[in-house]
Amino acid sequence: MTNPLNAARNRRWFLKYLAASPVLAASTREALAATVAEMQTRPDDPYIWRPFDPNYIIEKPDDALDLFDFEAAAHKKVSSAHWGFMSTGADGEGTYRANRQDIAKFAIRSRRLRDVKTVDASRELFGHKWSMPFLLCPTGRNGMYHADGEAGVGRAAGRHNIAQGLATNVTFGVTDVNKARNGTPVLFQLYQQENWEISKSLIARAEREGCKTLLLTIDGVSARKDLQFARGVRADSRLCMECHEVRPNNPKSPILSARKGGNFTEVPPDLWDQKFTPDKMTWEYVKRVRDFTKMDIFVKGITDVEDAVMCAKLGYGVWVSNHGGRNEDTNRSSIACLADIAPAVKGKVPIVVDSGFRRGMDVVKALAMGATMVGFGRPYLWGLGAFGEAGVDKVIQIMKAEVIAAMQQVGVTSVKELRPDMIIRAL
Ligand SMILES: Cc1cc2nc3c(=O)[nH]c(=O)nc-3n(C[C@H](O)[C@H](O)[C@H](O)COP(=O)(O)O)c2cc1C
Repeated sequence: MTNPLNAARNRRWFLKYLAASPVLAASTREALAATVAEMQTRPDDPYIWRPFDPNYIIEKPDDALDLFDFEAAAHKKVSSAHWGFMSTGADGEGTYRANRQDIAKFAIRSRRLRDVKTVDASRELFGHKWSMPFLLCPTGRNGMYHADGEAGVGRAAGRHNIAQGLATNVTFGVTDVNKARNGTPVLFQLYQQENWEISKSLIARAEREGCKTLLLTIDGVSARKDLQFARGVRADSRLCMECHEVRPNNPKSPILSARKGGNFTEVPPDLWDQKFTPDKMTWEYVKRVRDFTKMDIFVKGITDVEDAVMCAKLGYGVWVSNHGGRNEDTNRSSIACLADIAPAVKGKVPIVVDSGFRRGMDVVKALAMGATMVGFGRPYLWGLGAFGEAGVDKVIQIMKAEVIAAMQQVGVTSVKELRPDMIIRAL
């Protein structure tokens, strides 16, 4: 019997061979290279039965049945470099894959014969009562995927009373996105800037704009190897400098921190630099941020139980995340980290978890395991890339319906009833 993986590999190899052939016209070679890059965007999701099919494309948001339906639609519309950036994991993408695989390793006990007609899935966190126990994670420069950008995401999330993280490097800055959300401010994510004065200016602005929560991301401490991204850039015939500021020594290396329209507009020009390398990201740095702002701080990127316990001791919210498998290839999934961390934190501080959560039942399981809220990143970017704000809106609608259905199915009517003893390690 033919192994479909081998067949796909052979097809890819043959197309690659053709793309390199000097007898073909340059435009044909480019088209073939782009096809190869598309075929490499990601392996099938290990935790769905249906293989990833880049040719099954929904035409409008209402056609979507689950969050995965937006993926191929966005893939079609978003340029290969930007798609590569969004979809990439680090190195061999083992962590990215483990995030999905391990969700299946925790099964849930479903209780029957309970009245679950009316379900309240609301959750209080970050000083507000949200309609749902899930949130949209901060992701950089959403304008890459659709002109609606973070403002479109904000309008959709605000409409549904859903929490939203706003990244440091964005197309729409905190002032615009808070306006778009029309009521509740974003959770402001900070990438440490090499120059503390710039970090201070970003924090002060977020605070002035009414933000109550700072997400201090601590997990990007090295130069990453994003292979899908690098391949996507190669397959993209456009020049980055047509839309981005680029680094002087590399025309294919865009600078992510926009000075126009983003979060950096108030940084005095004489302070401007392009480094946000967190080379000295330590507990002392977290304390420095603590001493500077009144906002609640969540430390985003915790994967180890001892780090989580330290957060709890120091009064920081724990944000369990491996950045969607984008920073290191350790094969430790977020849900596995949560399984260790939640019992050790003992409810002293809230826990948010992200990385790999795609379905209502995934969210419900993580809540039962001790997460206060569950975040996701790529799925709403798929919605955005496919249909702009309307796509994000539909992603939220689907997730809301799935969370409620999952709660009914396991026999609870409020998130408080989800308890660790409802979870069984399935493997
Ligand atoms: C395209 C992309 C850009 C991201 N940018 C940021 C960022 O700027 N700051 C940050 O803290 N996390 C960033 N993240 C990580 C997300 O906040 C979140 O941890 C991750 O997306 C969760 O995994 P999931 O995409 O599998 O749901 C990014 C993730 C993606 C996919």
